[in-house]
Amino acid sequence: MKYIVAIIQPDCLNAAMDELGKQGVDLVTVTEVMGHGRQKGEAQVYRGHKEAGRLLRKIKLEIAVNDDYVDKTISAITTATRTEQIGDGKIFVLPLEQCARIRTGEVGPVAIG
Ligand SMILES: Nc1ncnc2c1ncn2[C@@H]1O[C@H](COP(=O)(O)OP(=O)(O)OP(=O)(O)O)[C@@H](O)[C@H]1O
Ligand SMILES: [Mg+2]
Repeated sequence: MKYIVAIIQPDCLNAAMDELGKQGVDLVTVTEVMGHGRQKGEAQVYRGHKEAGRLLRKIKLEIAVNDDYVDKTISAITTATRTEQIGDGKIFVLPLEQCARIRTGEVGPVAIG
C-alpha cells in the first residue's frame, strides 16, 4: 500500500479528478494549501493569473492506493496537470503501513477502496 501526495495547480483539479476517475481512482482527499518550489514563489503568470508573493496557492491531493494502482495514479495526475511550465507540481509516494475502514473494521488492502 502507498500513500500518494500530489501538489498541483488549482486550475487542474477538475482535470485531475477526471483522469483519476478514468483509472478507477475515486477516493481522494483534497486540501487547499500554500507552497513554493525551486523558484521560491517568485511572481509567475499561470493561465492568465499573475501570482505574486513567496507562497502560492496550490491544491494537495492525498490518495491511498494498493500497489498495482501506483503507476496509473501517477500517470493520471501527470497527464491532467503537465503544462511543461514551472510550478506544474510534484508527486510524492509514501509507504503506507496500514489502512482501516472504521465502519466495518476491515484492515489492510481491502480497506483501501
Ligand atoms: N521538496 C518539496 N517538498 C515539499 N513540497 C514541495 C517540494 N517541492 C515542491 N513542493 C510543493 O509543490 C509545489 C509545486 O512545486 P513546483 O512544481 O514548483 O516544483 P519545482 O521543484 O519548483 O519544479 P519546477 O521547476 O517545475 O517549478 C510547491 O509550491 C510546493 O508546495
Ligand atoms: Mg517551481
